[in-house]
Amino acid sequence: MKIKFKQAKIGSEPCAALVIGVWAHAKKLSIPENGKLPKICNEFLASNDFKGKTAEIALLYEVEKLPAKRIVLVGLGEKEGYNCERIRLACGAATKNLMRLGVAQFALSAASFLEENLDLSDVCQAAAEGIILASYQFTAYKEVPTDQKSTLDEAVFVFEGKVGKKVEEGVRWGKFVAEAANFARDLQNHPGNYLTPGRLAAAAKAMAMANGLDCKILEKQQMEKLNMGALLGVAKGSQEPPKFIILEHKPSKGKLATVVLVGKGITFDSGGISIKPSDRMEEMKFDMSGGAAVIGTMRAVAQLGMPLHVVGLIPACENLPSGTSMKPGDILRASSGTTVEIVNTDAEGRLILADALHYARRYKPAAVIDLATLTGACVVALGNYASGLFSRDKELAEALKIAGEKSGERVWQLPLWDDYNEDIKSDYADIKNSAGRAGGAITAAAFLGKFTQGYPWAHLDIAGTAWTDQEKGYLSKGGTGVGVRLLVEFLRGR
Ligand code: BES
Ligand code: MN
Ligand code: ZN
Repeated sequence: MKIKFKQAKIGSEPCAALVIGVWAHAKKLSIPENGKLPKICNEFLASNDFKGKTAEIALLYEVEKLPAKRIVLVGLGEKEGYNCERIRLACGAATKNLMRLGVAQFALSAASFLEENLDLSDVCQAAAEGIILASYQFTAYKEVPTDQKSTLDEAVFVFEGKVGKKVEEGVRWGKFVAEAANFARDLQNHPGNYLTPGRLAAAAKAMAMANGLDCKILEKQQMEKLNMGALLGVAKGSQEPPKFIILEHKPSKGKLATVVLVGKGITFDSGGISIKPSDRMEEMKFDMSGGAAVIGTMRAVAQLGMPLHVVGLIPACENLPSGTSMKPGDILRASSGTTVEIVNTDAEGRLILADALHYARRYKPAAVIDLATLTGACVVALGNYASGLFSRDKELAEALKIAGEKSGERVWQLPLWDDYNEDIKSDYADIKNSAGRAGGAITAAAFLGKFTQGYPWAHLDIAGTAWTDQEKGYLSKGGTGVGVRLLVEFLRGR
């Protein structure tokens, strides 16, 4: 999807469709009163057929009177509470509608999405994100019927005034961030039989090569040397060899603070010997969504040339039952030396993350953030509209909340008091890998906290946000790429 910009009078240029944002209850357009366009639209708005609710769409056809073949009015809602997420929703809705009509290209009045409290650069970024995220289709295994195939490949942002640096910057960010999220969605949507740990590592490596990132893949022998007993314990039940993916963005400029991002890369989670019920087990191909988010974020970081030292760590393996699987009652020794009693083999994410979080220490990081589809309990607590945030570092937690609001990938903090450490004590080992149902998302975070000594750390449980089983605003069914927009915004803030 190409996004261009142009200086021209709105409605004066030939295009297949012209998209204009409209406030709730507006009786006229918020763009200059010259030309035929405002008259046509204002007559329609006076009818009150269109309420201007967020993402509401009206199509007007005025073929003879204007060079635009169609006018797409899209609702922005009330001015109060207007933000970047509304712009994503509105632009996403317009994009999805135009895809259905088989349009190849459209123009958009950027000024109609502007409001005094918003920065033009942010408006352009959000519009680009909404368009690119909404135009995503995953077609690797299924032909889209010809009448539904999207031919949309260009959006032109039209400005009456001069196109400045702010517009260029906003579009550039929006484009790289949304394309990186779509890249993560591709990784998520591939099934487990294709996207094995080996293929995930190969995809990360190819991405790294194409974007000037360093990439190292640790093999099983190296994990053994590093005493990664927790990761190896999970991997043991599968024929697919585990991979430990390391991506590194090293900007040329001097010594910069290091941020380490860690992503859970379980390419399929059957539960292992503590096998899951078969109902919806197929969704567990998405259990590598944290890893996909980290790989996607690293891509954006490289393409944007961010002046930060960023490291991505993705422990990747399958969790399967077999004659070689770990069993309930087994005790594993993680690379930190901590021993873990396995009481439920389905609590595997925290095990592979334990070794990755311990590995992160060698970078002397200023911050470590992990992302994982870690617990069903987090979905019970927050549903599908926010990721769980866990941190003992106030500053880091605040920065993530702010990035969440701005990026539209919201987080909600749950407590991480010392009391929860009691719940993961074991009679036979230092800790156990499951504390049962009560506070399941928190006890999982408390478990991870045992491996994060020496650096500020935050954990994001994305179990409820990583994929969606229904169309959701500018997103479609399947992987959402959650984490990419959030992390890029967080890193930008640093
Ligand atoms: N990958 C799952 C968590 C999950 C479940 C994510 C459903 C999204 C939707 C994780 O590995 C898991 O199985 N967690 C267990 C932990 C329990 C055994 C302590 C869970 O949540 O039931
Ligand atoms: Mn599991
Ligand atoms: Zn899992």
